[in-house]
Amino acid sequence: MNIELLNNKMSDSKTTVRVEFITADELKSHKKVKLLKTAGFNASADSICFLHESKNLICGVETQSVDEIRSSCSVAIKALKAANYKSAAFSVQKNNIQAIVEGIVLGGYDFENYKSKPKKTKFKNALLLCEDIKEMQDAFEEAIIIAEATCYTRDLVNTTPEDLNPPVFADIAKTLARENNLKCTILGEKELKDEKMNSMLAVGRASRHDSKLIHLVYKPKNPKKVITLIGKGLTYDSGGLSLKPAASMVTMKMDKAGGCAVLGMIKAASEMKLDIEIHAFVGAVENMIGGDAYKPDDVLVTRSGTTVEVRNTDAEGRLVLCDVLDYAQEKVNADYIFDFATLTGACMVALGQYTTGVMGHSTKLKHSFMMSAASASGELIGHLPFNKHLAKLLKSGIADISNVASKPYGGAITAGMFLDAFVKEENKEKWLHFDIAGSAYTETPWDCNVYGGTGSGVRFMSSFLKSIK
Ligand code: BES
Ligand code: ZN
Ligand code: ZN
Repeated sequence: MNIELLNNKMSDSKTTVRVEFITADELKSHKKVKLLKTAGFNASADSICFLHESKNLICGVETQSVDEIRSSCSVAIKALKAANYKSAAFSVQKNNIQAIVEGIVLGGYDFENYKSKPKKTKFKNALLLCEDIKEMQDAFEEAIIIAEATCYTRDLVNTTPEDLNPPVFADIAKTLARENNLKCTILGEKELKDEKMNSMLAVGRASRHDSKLIHLVYKPKNPKKVITLIGKGLTYDSGGLSLKPAASMVTMKMDKAGGCAVLGMIKAASEMKLDIEIHAFVGAVENMIGGDAYKPDDVLVTRSGTTVEVRNTDAEGRLVLCDVLDYAQEKVNADYIFDFATLTGACMVALGQYTTGVMGHSTKLKHSFMMSAASASGELIGHLPFNKHLAKLLKSGIADISNVASKPYGGAITAGMFLDAFVKEENKEKWLHFDIAGSAYTETPWDCNVYGGTGSGVRFMSSFLKSIK
């Protein structure tokens, strides 16, 4: 599908549908009100009505807010792809162009790599009409870059665990590095052993695929800030010997979503040519069972020297991240360190499926995400507070720390506090952990998300990176 930014006057051709977003109030004075009412249209949120004779697609919104427009636009684009028109025109303004691009690109996203007969559609062109192209061009281009990086992340998340295993993940990073002029370093198992990343290696030991640590760097000339992004890249999480029940194992290809998101973020940042140095680290590992598997009762000596008692091999993400965190802190002196992980089912219990959980010590930094970055990007972020009582639940009788808490309540927070044990004192205020277990994947469409990976994290992090002065 092409998306073009055009001047208002260049609109109509025979095959172009005009898309309009209206509230129930605006419906009352709409020139087609009678016809729309006859069709049963009342402009409620996410409802649409095609007026084929006049080539109008009228979309209901509760208010003209960007969240409503994005969601409604996602409904509209699906209807357009199912109809027989070649193109559609949307009026855009500075305040809603990003939401409309997201609705079109993300709401219209289809992943058909595994379909033998992809859906056919005549729909080819989305035309964004504005008063002054010059004034809108930058916002348009950035919105496209971010939406496409989100789709890139979705494609990776949706790829099957057989097709996207840790070595393939590393190859994908190399390709991205080549295309976007990034530096790429891959550590294989030999290098991981040399680095004493025993915890990460233990998780991947029963897999037939070698574990890989990916490090991508985007380095502009005079960076304003240096940022480290870390992603959990479990290409499959069977739970290991603490095997998941059959139903919970389905969708666990999404356990690489944090790693896929940081690839999407560095892609977007490099294409927007931001003045920020970015280091993206991914711990790419597969958690499997077998005679060689790591076990509950094992004690792992992590890269930092801290010892960890394994009480549950399904709490593997933190065992990968603790080594990657330690490595990343030694290699890069960053202003901010953010990690992204489908870390706990408990995060979904706490916040629901739609919201990313943010944890860390800096209230200011957490708030900047919850308020500005998230609200401008349309992603939902909720804060989960650490406390010293929960920290005590990670005590181990045999090692320095246990990989699971002794009580299940607050499981997203205790997982975050486990990671905190590997954040160096001088970096405490610079670090945030994002649990995307709920927000990274969906089997039922919501907002501009369709079945499968959502690309969660890419939009709010891009919006944060753009806002850095
Ligand atoms: N990858 C899972 C978390 C997860 C669950 C992500 C559901 C997305 C959807 C993680 O590795 C895991 O299994 N965590 C355990 C932790 C527990 C053993 C303390 C969990 O959430 O049950
Ligand atoms: Zn697990
Ligand atoms: Zn996992």
